[in-house]
Amino acid sequence: MSAAHERLRALYADRPAILAPMEDVTDVVFRRLCRKHGADLTMTEFVNVEGLLRGCRNAKRKVRLAPDDELTAIQIYGADPERLAEAARVAEEAQPLFIDVNCGCWVPKIAGRGAGAGWLREPAKMVEMARLIVSSVSLPVTVKTRIGLGPESHMPIVDLARRLEDTGVAAITIHCRTAQMGHSGKADWSWAARAREVVSIPVIVNGDVKTGDDAARALDETGCAGVMIGRRAIEHPWVFREVYGRLRRGEVVAGPTPTERVALCKEHLVANVEERGEPFGVRVTRRHLSGYLSGLPGAASLRQRLNLCDSLEGCLAILAEAEERIARAAAA
Ligand SMILES: Cc1cc2nc3c(=O)[nH]c(=O)nc-3n(C[C@H](O)[C@H](O)[C@H](O)COP(=O)(O)O)c2cc1C
Repeated sequence: MSAAHERLRALYADRPAILAPMEDVTDVVFRRLCRKHGADLTMTEFVNVEGLLRGCRNAKRKVRLAPDDELTAIQIYGADPERLAEAARVAEEAQPLFIDVNCGCWVPKIAGRGAGAGWLREPAKMVEMARLIVSSVSLPVTVKTRIGLGPESHMPIVDLARRLEDTGVAAITIHCRTAQMGHSGKADWSWAARAREVVSIPVIVNGDVKTGDDAARALDETGCAGVMIGRRAIEHPWVFREVYGRLRRGEVVAGPTPTERVALCKEHLVANVEERGEPFGVRVTRRHLSGYLSGLPGAASLRQRLNLCDSLEGCLAILAEAEERIARAAAA
C-alpha cells in the first residue's frame, strides 16, 4: 500500500466529516472556510475531463489547489473511460489527496450523455472504467455514486460496491438517493448500511446530513466510515463544528452567535473578492449570505440590500450597520 493510500486509510479511520463536491460552490475559498469550521476533508467541484484535457482555463482553475488544500480531493467526470484515465493523470499533477470519479450526477445533460449517474445504466462498464483509472494513477481513486437509477425496487448499489472494491478503489461515497430523485425525497441511509456490510473499504454516507445529531445517527445506523455534507454547508458551514463536537466530544455545540454570522459574511466576501475580483467575487458569495444571516433581526432587509449590491465596500457598509445593531441590542 502506498503512503498516499495509508494516509487516506488513517483519515477514514477517524470518522471524517467531508465537504461534498458542489459545482460553483466548493472552490478554494469555500473549502478553506469549511476546514476552518471543522471539515476533515474537502473536495473540489466536479471537473469535466474534456475541459481538463483541452487545458480550458476554467477546468484548470477548478483543479488548482492551494498550499492549505492538502486534505482536498479532485473530482472528475466524463463518459469515456480512456479520457477519464487521462484526465485523472492530469489531475494527479495537482497533488490532491485522492481522485474521485463522479458517477452520481443526475442532471440530464450529464447523465444523459453517459457521465455521472449515467454510469449506473451499465454497472459492468462503470466497474471496468474504475479499474482502468485505478491502474492509471498512483494516488488513491474513489467513486461517488447513488443507490441506483430508480425506481426499481432492487438497487444495484450493494453488488456494485463489491465489484468496485475488486477494482482497487480506495473508498465509495453513496448519495443515498436514486438518480431519478435528483435532490428531492428523503435519502435512504439503509442502502449505505447494506453496501458497507459487503465491502472492507471505507463507505461514506451522503444525503440529508444537516446536524451533529444527523451525523451521529447516520454513522450509527450504517456503520459507515464517515459522513459527507453538501447543501447544509452552503448556508451553514458551522455544521462542521457541530458534527465535530458531537462525534469527537459527544457535545451539542451551540449555533453561531449573531456576531459570528456577520463576521462570516464579511470574511467570505473579502476572500472571494481577493480570489475572483469585483463584482464576481461578491456575486458568488450571495448564495451563502442568506443562510449565514438566518435568524438575525432584520435579516430579510439585509439580504435584499446585499443582493442588490455588487461592490465589496457597499456590502461591508451594510454589514457594519448590522454589527452596530447587534452591539446596541447586546448593550440594551
Ligand atoms: C449546488 C450543488 C452542486 C453539486 N455539485 C456536485 C458535484 O460537482 N459533484 C458531485 O458529486 N455532487 C454534486 N452535488 C451533490 C452533492 O455532492 C451531494 O451528493 C448532495 O447534495 C446530497 O448531499 P446533501 O443532502 O448533504 O446536500 C451537488 C449538489 C448541489 C446542491
